[in-house]
Amino acid sequence: MKKILLQFICLFFVGNLQAQQNEWLFATTTVEYANNLKNEFPNKIEIIETKNDLVAVYVDAETSLEIKNYGNLHGPGFVYKVDKDDAIQSLHSNISPNVNALNFTITEDAFVEQCISLVEEDNLAQTILTLEAYGTRFHNQPSGIQASLDLKTTWEDLVAQFNRDDVLVEFYEHSFTQQKSVIVTIPGLEFPEEIIVIGGHIDSGDFWNPYDAPGADDNASGIATLTETLRILLANDFKPKRTVQIMAYAAEEIGLYGSADIADNYSSNGKNVLAAVQFDMTNYNGSSFDIALNTDEAYTSNELNLFLIELLEYYNSEGEHQITYGSSQCGYGCSDHVSWAENGYHAAFPMEAAFNEVSPYIHTPNDTFASMNNDASHSVKFVKLALEFVIETAKTSQLAVIDVDENEEVSMLISDRKLIYDFSQSNVDLSSIQIFDTSARNLISNNKLKNRGEISLESLKNGAYIAVFKSEKGKTYSKKFLLK
Ligand code: BES
Ligand code: ZN
Repeated sequence: MKKILLQFICLFFVGNLQAQQNEWLFATTTVEYANNLKNEFPNKIEIIETKNDLVAVYVDAETSLEIKNYGNLHGPGFVYKVDKDDAIQSLHSNISPNVNALNFTITEDAFVEQCISLVEEDNLAQTILTLEAYGTRFHNQPSGIQASLDLKTTWEDLVAQFNRDDVLVEFYEHSFTQQKSVIVTIPGLEFPEEIIVIGGHIDSGDFWNPYDAPGADDNASGIATLTETLRILLANDFKPKRTVQIMAYAAEEIGLYGSADIADNYSSNGKNVLAAVQFDMTNYNGSSFDIALNTDEAYTSNELNLFLIELLEYYNSEGEHQITYGSSQCGYGCSDHVSWAENGYHAAFPMEAAFNEVSPYIHTPNDTFASMNNDASHSVKFVKLALEFVIETAKTSQLAVIDVDENEEVSMLISDRKLIYDFSQSNVDLSSIQIFDTSARNLISNNKLKNRGEISLESLKNGAYIAVFKSEKGKTYSKKFLLK
């Protein structure tokens, strides 16, 4: 039965692809999965090149789907590539050297605080339920195609409601599927060429039954997160310095197709995306901490993760907006952030839980809002992080009313593997310091701190870190640094 279904699905999937010679595809996957497949079907897969635990392969399209036959509900799939060069190049992708994500700063606290207080759980619940009600949003199903058309209308209605005729909502059409991606553009007023991206996929998938894939967590919750973020930005008349784009990607579940199409196109047109953050599954609270920063070496930016840590420490370390976090890995290219990373952009993927603790219902008919107790409170945290990220990277162009305390003369500098700090010229009373690495590990901490002094960094390996000082009043002062 499974076999027949598979072949059926293959016709759907592969029949829709651009004409591929003999139905073979170029793709990337993990060494382990490629080897498994090769052992089973020696003549159906050709390994072109290997780098670390990734391989570029040329594989029979039908056989490529066998991977899903190993019994996992999710796991390493093939990430399809247009041609051989594309497959090989993606093994060697490097994070763009011309954007230094260590330069992102926190300067917009008044505006951010105002925005993160406005997140409404009900709105998230409504969007999740609306998307779930399509029954399936699989990319080639009429209801899946309709879902992308309707999302454009929903986003346009929000833009109209707040009278923002400067904000664009557009389809991004793909040749391989009728499902469309949808992109909102909030134009940057000072540096329009510099683009900040947040995104998530609109499609859903259930490999065994594409007709019954409610996809409430995967990924109605991510689209709900983006929609609520957009609503709050518009409601507060956000006019950024840099351009912000909010993207709903088509056809992620069959190999990141929609986002790959967009990110490849952006990169070939030389578009300057400073950073892209993915929201894929935000509503299942499965771990002892709220958010797991994905640290897959090949697909996420250490520097961008460090900035997310800086935001979480600054805005969410205590009180009503508290968000706890850790890190985790998929171990394979699991979502659309990969499409950005493979094109050399800084990408990050804050996950709803550690990889082995995410919703057990995804890719099944049970991925419903009811399975998440009709509660959207976990997604609320992701909206806050999305707002913090967008506002602090794109910056407001309105005159900010910042309550700068003239007496806050603080200095933090790195010299000879020492962190030298001086808060004694200010009226800040220091209470603690913590130093984190890019995987959110707390490597140094001290909660009996004088107002000036030195901290030895000799125990730290070369790499990127963030030092977070907290005052008695709970205010955060941070410094990111590189040891090399
Ligand atoms: N939302 C999942 C990715 C995911 C799964 C993230 C589990 C964290 C934990 C995504 O929609 C998905 O299903 N991805 C595929 C791979 C992709 C290349 C088709 C998967 O994980 O099987
Ligand atoms: Zn999925």
